[in-house]
Amino acid sequence: MAIRKVGVIGAGLMGHGIAQVAAQGGCEVIVCETQQGFLDKGLERIDKSLAKLAEKAKEKGQTFDPAAVRARIRGTLAKADLADCDLVVEAIVEDLEVKKALFAELGKIVKKDGIFASNTSSFPISEMAAVSGRADRFVGLHFFNPVQLMKLVEVVRTDKTNEDVVAQARAFGEACGKSPITCKDTPGFVVNRLLVPYMAEAMKLAERGDASIQDIDVAMKLGCGYPMGPFELTDYVGLDTTLSILQGWVKRYPNDPAFGIPKLLEAQVKEGKLGRKSGQGFYTWQGDKRV
Ligand code: 3HC
Repeated sequence: MAIRKVGVIGAGLMGHGIAQVAAQGGCEVIVCETQQGFLDKGLERIDKSLAKLAEKAKEKGQTFDPAAVRARIRGTLAKADLADCDLVVEAIVEDLEVKKALFAELGKIVKKDGIFASNTSSFPISEMAAVSGRADRFVGLHFFNPVQLMKLVEVVRTDKTNEDVVAQARAFGEACGKSPITCKDTPGFVVNRLLVPYMAEAMKLAERGDASIQDIDVAMKLGCGYPMGPFELTDYVGLDTTLSILQGWVKRYPNDPAFGIPKLLEAQVKEGKLGRKSGQGFYTWQGDKRV
């Protein structure tokens, strides 16, 4: 079975991007939200991104038809509309219990051979798969922010995932214009397992006064060729998101020294400094740009 019809649950930061790249890959896409306002905002983001990509394509003399992509995407507030999807990707709030309840419900709605995927950053895929009624047809599909530009997707398999489902998920990732990698269902998979402790270590370095936030960012950009330093990237991802990933790991793996919570991160989140999304984090932001 080829994946042709895709349901995306959640039209937020990740969901709108996943819906868009799936439509760019030729799939028919239904984006499902809980409120009309959230849906409208997600679709508006897609329109803006498509317009930007069209502008870029024009500059390069390439053809890109944003209207054709947009015509493949529709929104809904009814999960029942996802019943005949070949693949349903979840990109809702990072709360394991909420995700599990969603998959238990979807298991009864979506056709039996439909594949389920979660875009979670850090929760065990196997726990969601276990309640979905189709553990063998369940993978992690972890995209990166901004989904439209980042070229990677992690395809996370559990010990119950069918090999054919892994192959279909990889093919879907390629259709979305991504390079898939496959990995096991371990905390943070590959990227976040390395990235989040690195961000936390940078914060501890700054807390100790070993170097300033700005100098640490310059060091990692110029010394390692990273497009953003750890503080700018934490702002970009969201300080609350980073904190919640770390809190989840500390709770689950209390004896693993790799997972500690920097005081600086807790303090910033307490003050509502969440990064790009709140306009203030380690830096000041105006929209998507650092001031
Ligand atoms: N859609 C379409 N176009 C977009 C876009 C989007 N969503 N986002 C940005 N663009 C456009 C910009 O408008 C800009 O256009 P312009 O040249 O006309 O101004 C162009 O793309 C390039 O963007 P920038 O000017 O901001 O410049 P950069 O070359 O720095 O690219 C970046 C931006 C790709 C975000 C780059 O800085 C980068 O790679 N940063 C690191 C991102 C990263 O590491 N992401 C992973 C985070 S971890 C994660 O997501 C996992 C999660 O589980 C926590």
